[in-house]
Amino acid sequence: MIKESDRVVVRGLRDVEAAETRISYVDFNGFLYYLGYNIDDLVGRVTYAEVAYLLVHKRLPTQRELDNFRSELVSDMKLPDPIVDSIKHTPKHCHPMHILRTEVSRLAEYDPEGNDFSEAANLRRAARLIAQVPVIVATIHRSRLNKTVPEPKSEFGFSENYLYMFKGAIPDESETNVLHRYMSLHADHGFNASTFAARVTASTNSDMYSAVTSAIGTLKGPLHGGASEKVMEMLDDINLEEEVEEYVNGLLDDQKKIMGFGHRVYRAQDPRTKHLRGIVEDLSHRDRTLDLYNKCIKIEEIVYGRRKIYPNVDFYAAVAMDALGVPKEFFTPFFASSRISGWVAHVIEQYEDAVLLRPASKYVGEFNRTFVSIENR
Ligand code: CMC
Repeated sequence: MIKESDRVVVRGLRDVEAAETRISYVDFNGFLYYLGYNIDDLVGRVTYAEVAYLLVHKRLPTQRELDNFRSELVSDMKLPDPIVDSIKHTPKHCHPMHILRTEVSRLAEYDPEGNDFSEAANLRRAARLIAQVPVIVATIHRSRLNKTVPEPKSEFGFSENYLYMFKGAIPDESETNVLHRYMSLHADHGFNASTFAARVTASTNSDMYSAVTSAIGTLKGPLHGGASEKVMEMLDDINLEEEVEEYVNGLLDDQKKIMGFGHRVYRAQDPRTKHLRGIVEDLSHRDRTLDLYNKCIKIEEIVYGRRKIYPNVDFYAAVAMDALGVPKEFFTPFFASSRISGWVAHVIEQYEDAVLLRPASKYVGEFNRTFVSIENR
């Protein structure tokens, strides 16, 4: 135990190593590893289901294991009827992240394995959550359009089914590939705020749904996963490419943050940015995407030129999502639909670590105040 007088407050827990993990390593030099594999070696060569398997089972699957896992995910892509009804009755002005957070929490009420918290039950629960979070997102979107969600197709892969269920149209191969890359890049990222929130909840031996609900609430904030929606608001606010300079310089002059820039860990380029920029370049035959891409390149030049700050994962992700036809209020739900695999992997690892995450706080308030009864205040 550290003596109270020797303790130091680490504001924002910056650089504090709160626990050990084998799942992912965020190297501040600009590298990201999942279970020891550099993401540069994975992205574009694996499906998202393969990445999800890697994170949860801590090794890459064989073809047979992947086929089984993919089938398990696709067959889990259905929601209990009361959840579908509840989504349909949610006010249409509600942000989809509010609805997602609530409905993930309600999934606990319909867990077919009830109070079985064995390792095997938790692995099955993890697969169900990986499958059901995207379906909740698709159901929110389709119900706003007064349309039903198509049934997943067993001959489709997991990400392909997700796009199909979200958009109601069979995606082409290039769209599915974009989603594999997007989802793989968003799947995990060390002790980011939402993952840490999930681990804190799991550390009390609470259930996986509670942990994921904590994570969703944390991801929603604009300093974390909510940033990509803000990026698109900024891009929409800038009418013409020629206006970028004045707009961005104005924000920087006013000491405002540029959304989609900066990172707590990286001191070099975020290793995910080049892949997402690449995705956007691949899609820039679309007029709107090219226009957004050109604005992004200019913003990048100005922000780096003035502040030496690089774009993070959320910057080009916003344009990639837009190119896939995803409305901006669904950008963070798509992030959650991918990060769910990292969250459940960390929750399982936290259960294995079996230690309560409970820091100390430095009390800076008053002492020995004289109590005054309510009638005399
Ligand atoms: N625009 C302008 N200046 C910035 C930005 C930005 N986006 N980010 C950091 N800075 C400046 C900041 O003002 C500070 O300057 P100074 O030293 O002169 O006071 C310096 O860079 C260090 O920033 P910080 O706020 O101490 O960094 P942090 O580690 O506390 O915050 C961050 C990291 C991601 C919250 C922050 O960079 C930020 O608010 N970015 C915008 C929101 C965003 O894009 N969030 C997504 C984060 S990455 C993906 C994810 O988690 O979802």
